[in-house]
Amino acid sequence: MAAPIDAFEFPRTGKKLRNRAVVAAMTNKQSNEDGSLSDEEINWLIRRAEGGFGIVTTAATHVVPEGQGWDGEMGVWGDHQLPGLTRLATGINEHGAVSLAQIFHGGMRCPQRLTGVQPVSASINPTSDSDNGETRALKDSEIEELIEAFAMAAARCEKAGFDGVEIHGAHGYLVCQFLGIETNRREDRWGGSLENRARFLLQIIERIRQVTDDDFLLGVRISPEYDKIGVLLEDSLDLVDMLVESDIDFLHISCWDCFTPPAHHDDSRMLTEIFAERLANRLPMITCGAVWSTAQAQEVMDQGADLVAVARSAIGHANWASHLGDSEYDPQRPPFTAEHLLDEGLSEKFVDYMRAWQGFVSD
Ligand SMILES: Cc1cc2nc3c(=O)[nH]c(=O)nc-3n(C[C@H](O)[C@H](O)[C@H](O)COP(=O)(O)O)c2cc1C
Repeated sequence: MAAPIDAFEFPRTGKKLRNRAVVAAMTNKQSNEDGSLSDEEINWLIRRAEGGFGIVTTAATHVVPEGQGWDGEMGVWGDHQLPGLTRLATGINEHGAVSLAQIFHGGMRCPQRLTGVQPVSASINPTSDSDNGETRALKDSEIEELIEAFAMAAARCEKAGFDGVEIHGAHGYLVCQFLGIETNRREDRWGGSLENRARFLLQIIERIRQVTDDDFLLGVRISPEYDKIGVLLEDSLDLVDMLVESDIDFLHISCWDCFTPPAHHDDSRMLTEIFAERLANRLPMITCGAVWSTAQAQEVMDQGADLVAVARSAIGHANWASHLGDSEYDPQRPPFTAEHLLDEGLSEKFVDYMRAWQGFVSD
C-alpha cells in the first residue's frame, strides 16, 4: 500500500505529484468584487504550495457572474480575472505543486442581492437566502449555455497556467442540484433517470475536453450522499461507472468525516472503502474529511484512496504536507488563536471568516 509521502503520477497525462497531499478547495471570501483575486488569497494558497502539498486547489470559483454564491468569491468568467489567476497558478507551480481551480455555479444558493437576478436550478426549488424565495428552472437552451460557460472557464484557467480544474459536483451547488432527485424533478433529457440527471455534468466534462489540451487535468468532486438534495449512495456509485467512462483524471469524494460510515445506508464500511471497491483502480481517487495526523492520512489510503485532501488541517498548518514522513505527526487541532492563523499566512479577513466555523478560532 502506498504512503501519503509517496510520489504519484496521473495515469492519463503522466503529470507527477511529489506526494499524495492535496489542499482541498476552501472558500475564504477574500476576492475582489469583480471576482478577481486579491493578494491575500493568492498568498495563502502559494504558502501551501511552499509548505509542500502535492496539489493546491483554489476556492470554489464561479463560471458566470450569476453563479456567484457568496461575497468575496473568486470568479473565472472574465479575462479581467486572468492576471490574478496567472499569478496564482504560476506561484503554485513555482513551488512544486500542481494547481487546480475548482469551478462551479451556486444554482439555488446564489443570493439575488449579489447577482441581481433570480437564482436558477434544475427545477423550481427553495433558495437558502430569504431575499429571493425560489429559483426558476433552467431552460434547455440555458443549460447548453452553462455547459459552454463551464468549458470557457476551464479554458481560461488553462490559459492562466493552471494544471487542471475540478468540477464542483458536491455540497448542493448547481451540478449537485442536477444530480439529486429532490432538486431535479425535470421530465426532459436533463431529469428523471440517473443518466439524465448526470447529463449536465457529463456534457460539461465532454466540452471541457474539447476546448483544453490533452494534458490538462480534469476531475470531479462529488458528495457521496446528500439527503436534502436527494443524492443517494447507490446513485453516486452508479455515477462512478459513468465517470470512469468519461474522460476525467480523478474522482474526489467529499466525506466530511472519513472515519464514519455512510449516514443513510446500512453499509458499515467507510465511504472511501465503498468507493474504492466500485472504482477498482479504474480512476485515481481523492478522499477528504477529518484527516489531521499522518496516521489518519495513511488510514484513508489504506481504505483505498490514492490521494488525501485536507481543508482545516491546511488552514491551521501551512506546512502540513512536509511532515508526512513523520508517522507520529499529529498537529494541533482547533481552536487556533488568531495570531497562529496569521502566522500561517491567513489574512485578518480570512481569520474573521473562520470565526464563523464554530470552535475554529479561539478569541
Ligand atoms: C473554510 C472552508 C471553506 C470551504 N470551501 C469549500 C469550497 O469552496 N469548495 C468545496 O468543495 N469544499 C469547501 N469546503 C469543504 C472542504 O473542502 C472539506 O471537504 C471539508 O472541510 C472537510 O475536510 P477537513 O475535515 O479536512 O476540513 C470548505 C471547508 C472550509 C473549512
